[in-house]
Amino acid sequence: MRTQVGIIGAGPAGLLLSHLLRRSGIDSVIVESRSRADIEGTIRAGVLEQWLVDVIDELGLGARMHAEGHFHTGITLQFSGERHHLDIEELTGGKKVTVYAQHEVIKDLVTARLAQGGAIHFEVTDVAPQGIDSARPSIRFRTKEGVLETLDCDFIAGCDGFHGPCRQAIPAAIRTEYQKIYPFGWLGVLVEAPPSWHELIYANHDKGFSLLSTRSETVQRLYVQCPPQDDLADWSDDRVWSELHERLATKTPWTLTEGKIFQKNIVGLRSFVCETMQHGRLFLAGDSAHIVPPTGAKGLNLAAADVLILSRALDAFYKSDTSDLLNSYSQTCLKRIWKAERFSWYMTTMLHKNPDESSFEQRIHLADLDYVVHSHAACLAIAENYVGLPL
Ligand code: FAD
Ligand code: PHB
Repeated sequence: MRTQVGIIGAGPAGLLLSHLLRRSGIDSVIVESRSRADIEGTIRAGVLEQWLVDVIDELGLGARMHAEGHFHTGITLQFSGERHHLDIEELTGGKKVTVYAQHEVIKDLVTARLAQGGAIHFEVTDVAPQGIDSARPSIRFRTKEGVLETLDCDFIAGCDGFHGPCRQAIPAAIRTEYQKIYPFGWLGVLVEAPPSWHELIYANHDKGFSLLSTRSETVQRLYVQCPPQDDLADWSDDRVWSELHERLATKTPWTLTEGKIFQKNIVGLRSFVCETMQHGRLFLAGDSAHIVPPTGAKGLNLAAADVLILSRALDAFYKSDTSDLLNSYSQTCLKRIWKAERFSWYMTTMLHKNPDESSFEQRIHLADLDYVVHSHAACLAIAENYVGLPL
């Protein structure tokens, strides 16, 4: 087997890269360890930055997103039992908050790629990037049917998420990893209910953070901060509702509409960056190189930004025979990634109750929130980061 760019992982990064490369006339093949049903059914992120919505539109893949996504003009910050609307659209000169679930994006990208005749090998095993120091790298893998294959390529895109093999393929001596593990996690639920509020609510509460998000007119996504080691068995539906009611309560009357909880999961929160993101002919993109806590809604967007930058560099390589953009790939990505890491850390720190912090620090977070909602400059700083910094 041979292709120009071998892509490991059919998450948002790998799939979007295959579409961007196709637009440039560059051939690619994706190998993915999970099944199509599995990747299309995994519940993860929900918010798309404006530039990503525009890129999905440019690729002609935005029809379902526009029909089924939710376009909000702002977000709500809640603390001390009061809500404050941040008018993102006005603050950013017209950009919107798009709520469209990651697995819906995945479905759109997979359907379109397969319809174009693109190659995606699902349920592969024993995936290993090889010869990344040479001009002839390859990906070794075993197909679903058990056949050992070698995919020869010019470049390998490591879009294999945090636990994939690509990052480890970069020699430890030239890799520096920066990490922060937070002493809290998020319990997420999907609920059969109508929306309870017209936009997302990020709520700071003495009992811990909570987030009210949406998926459709009939399905809502809600999160509560919990200890990262908590078991789902500790969280009965009654307990989830009781915590949500308490943490989202306001001084003015408001009703959180309950409904059947049909999905529950717990994720730990982490910040992580791997420098460098490139070695030889292997380029890391997305979660394989960096993780952000979800409070800034940046994970999926960062993954997409990496592959847009990578696709431009590969386009320049094939069309203009220059490696300059490929050589500066890691540096270009990391500059923007660190700003998203900062924003995600800032939102997380300000909005969560950290059991390791003193009451002094808790008060500082409330002061920070009060400053944000009363200062145009501070509001603007949140708004421009939330919709996505320039690429
Ligand atoms: P992934 O989506 O992880 O895709 C990597 C793909 O590579 C996967 O399909 C995986 O199966 C495949 N793979 C792995 N190993 C191999 C291998 N050896 N061979 C072949 N394929 C392989 N972000 C938010 O902004 N908000 C959220 O609420 C949120 N919730 C999250 C919940 C969870 C449980 C997780 C894990 C992440 C969450 N994120 C969230 C982050 C966001 O979903 C990720 O940043 C985004 O998925 C990154 O896309 P990616 O393509 O880089 O990686
Ligand atoms: C979601 O809808 O899943 C979601 C929204 C905003 C976030 C994180 C997750 O910051």
